[in-house]
Amino acid sequence: MKYKRNILITGGAGFIGSHVVRLFVNKYPEYRIVNLDKLTYAGNLANLKDVESAPNYEFVKADICDFETVCGIFQKYGIDGVIHLAAESHVDRSIKDPFTFAKTNVLGTLSMLQAARHCWSGDWEGKRFYHISTDEVYGALELTRPEGVPSDISAHMVYGDEFFRETTRYSPHSPYSASKASSDHFVRAFHDTYGMPTIVTNCSNNYGPYQFPEKLIPLFINNIRHRRPLPVYGRGENVRDWLYVEDHARAIDLIFHEGKVADTYNIGGFNEWKNIDLIKVIIKTTDRLLGNPEGYSDGLITFVTDRAGHDLRYAIDATKLHRELGWSPSLQFEEGIDKTVRWYLDNQEWMDNITSGAYERYYEDMYGNR
Ligand code: NAD
Ligand code: DAU
Repeated sequence: MKYKRNILITGGAGFIGSHVVRLFVNKYPEYRIVNLDKLTYAGNLANLKDVESAPNYEFVKADICDFETVCGIFQKYGIDGVIHLAAESHVDRSIKDPFTFAKTNVLGTLSMLQAARHCWSGDWEGKRFYHISTDEVYGALELTRPEGVPSDISAHMVYGDEFFRETTRYSPHSPYSASKASSDHFVRAFHDTYGMPTIVTNCSNNYGPYQFPEKLIPLFINNIRHRRPLPVYGRGENVRDWLYVEDHARAIDLIFHEGKVADTYNIGGFNEWKNIDLIKVIIKTTDRLLGNPEGYSDGLITFVTDRAGHDLRYAIDATKLHRELGWSPSLQFEEGIDKTVRWYLDNQEWMDNITSGAYERYYEDMYGNR
């Protein structure tokens, strides 16, 4: 079958990537979607069970750092669009092992760019290289209105007077954000130097189904279920802006198709939460859905040593994306968090396969060593 477009999505077996792959495979049967993923500890093909046999979906196990293999994939499938999500994504891991982050996020992105440049040979017509990045590249904001406590879960709190805008100067602090900042610069350099049609977006914290349980929300839901301690870094005063992952995937779809080449868009939830307040919501929701009495798991909160260089506040201003392309988050936080907790509680097998390591052994048998 001749496809209208052949799109390469990297990191499609991860958290956000799996939602993007699912959206594209289902929404665009006229496109071929090629999912390139190395299946690191964070990649899990169980995230894509419902689309794995779709006729317009292909999975290729490969490393973005392997330039020759990536070129082969471009040629084999006639790739004309790239949505690049593959990365090492966890800040705590980057503090322990910065080298792996530089390799995957910086050199891996460069290898993807070089492959696109080589295979498209300067014929940019109908091509697009879309790089998915993070708000963490902008650094940290102050808490100038630190006292607010949401009166109810749907109340929108704002903890400071400043926001990350597309024009905000990069100031990364962690090895993770430094590696993402570097990759963003390489993507823009490929537009400015070679004319490659690139786009970069910087998004805030995503939450929802299929997130690896090293990240705050799935980790805490699972710990509450098993009555394990909930390790709150520092005093839980740090603020993050949370966006439901399917809303991010919708934004990526819109920007891939209608975003302006060489431009940058911030994506965010207009939904700031202090960690400690968010954690209370997670506890309350999880206890309710497990049928526990109110306050049952409050005592699991355990304040632990803070993350090194812990950024105080992230807050995205996503009004450009709203103004220019009409996007806004569709889900209220109240509904999103309820859906998310339910999903993790209903998918205990998915969680157990990860925490026991069974998923890794399964795919090792299928695809060889990771
Ligand atoms: P994730 O860790 O869940 O998934 C990353 C995926 O990339 C995994 O499937 C992994 O196997 C794959 N991968 C890693 N190294 C690879 C390599 N060398 N070659 C091929 N595949 C490789 O990450 P996520 O949370 O879904 O984040 C996806 C992207 O979105 C990342 O670029 C991240 O920086 C960005 N982002 C994430 C968030 C968030 O809140 N999670 C917010 C903004 C931006
Ligand atoms: O802002 C976007 C970024 O959001 C993405 O670029 C990253 O890939 C993604 O991992 C996420 O980074 P964070 O560091 O903000 O997410 P994490 O879930 O690790 O932590 C959220 C907040 O909760 C942060 O302030 C640290 C705190 N935390 C986290 C963990 C895992 C705790 O207090 N205890 C924990 O055990």
